[in-house]
Amino acid sequence: MAVAITLRGVSRVHGTAKALDDVSLEFAAGGATALMGHSGAGKSTLLQLIGGMDLPDSGEILLDGKPLPRRGLGAHRRRIGFVFQRFHLLPALSALDNVLAPVLPYRVDFDRRAWARELLDAVGLAGRERALPSQLSGGQQQRVAIARALIGRPPLLLADEPTGNLDSATGQEIVDLLFGLRESHGMTMIIATHNPELAATCDRLIRLADGRVAADETMAPATDVLDRIGRLG
Ligand SMILES: Nc1ncnc2c1ncn2[C@@H]1O[C@H](COP(=O)(O)OP(=O)(O)OP(=O)(O)O)[C@@H](O)[C@H]1O
Ligand SMILES: [Mg+2]
Repeated sequence: MAVAITLRGVSRVHGTAKALDDVSLEFAAGGATALMGHSGAGKSTLLQLIGGMDLPDSGEILLDGKPLPRRGLGAHRRRIGFVFQRFHLLPALSALDNVLAPVLPYRVDFDRRAWARELLDAVGLAGRERALPSQLSGGQQQRVAIARALIGRPPLLLADEPTGNLDSATGQEIVDLLFGLRESHGMTMIIATHNPELAATCDRLIRLADGRVAADETMAPATDVLDRIGRLG
């Protein structure tokens, strides 16, 4: 069910700045990849391109071997859970309705309300289902955004600093939730993060610098990974 992704010579230019510069990568189905690198390195740009929220200026992106179309990306986006760096919750909707919003237009083969409540519970927001985003802290809004990304049981999860606004205990709970779901229903995950513990949970670390791949390591046991992250600087 999980999705494999291929990038071939992908570039994205903003004005004179190359946000991504001729990037070629393969992501295996079911893998969990941490995307690290300095601010402005191109992490969000890469996630948005894979998610079909932005288009490359050159190169191509394939999902399970099929090129992403340049138009009509709706079907593609439906297979993706996306955690936005700035949450992008709908301000007039409750936490529960924000979580439900992505699947409301579609037929799904599970009880969406029950699953939405279960997800809110899993991210530690049981009892806050009716709260509006403005009544929630930044970390709580982030947790709503994570639940929303998972509502469609996506085969591909793209998460842009999903623990950026969370304390380390809450961050660890979210990481456990993501990796638990990956175990139970198999999803490919790509997670942009500045958090070394989260990166160490993944099985691969890609470091971007100035829009290029500066390091790409497959990681086995979590133990030596923190060392390796330190060594890569
Ligand atoms: N819409 C845009 N218009 C102009 N420049 C942009 C735009 N989006 C990104 N950039 C530029 O592209 C480069 C990569 O940005 P990106 O947001 O991908 O970095 P990032 O690695 O996610 O950084 P951060 O860790 O701060 O989130 C930066 O130089 C940024 O200024
Ligand atoms: Mg970013």
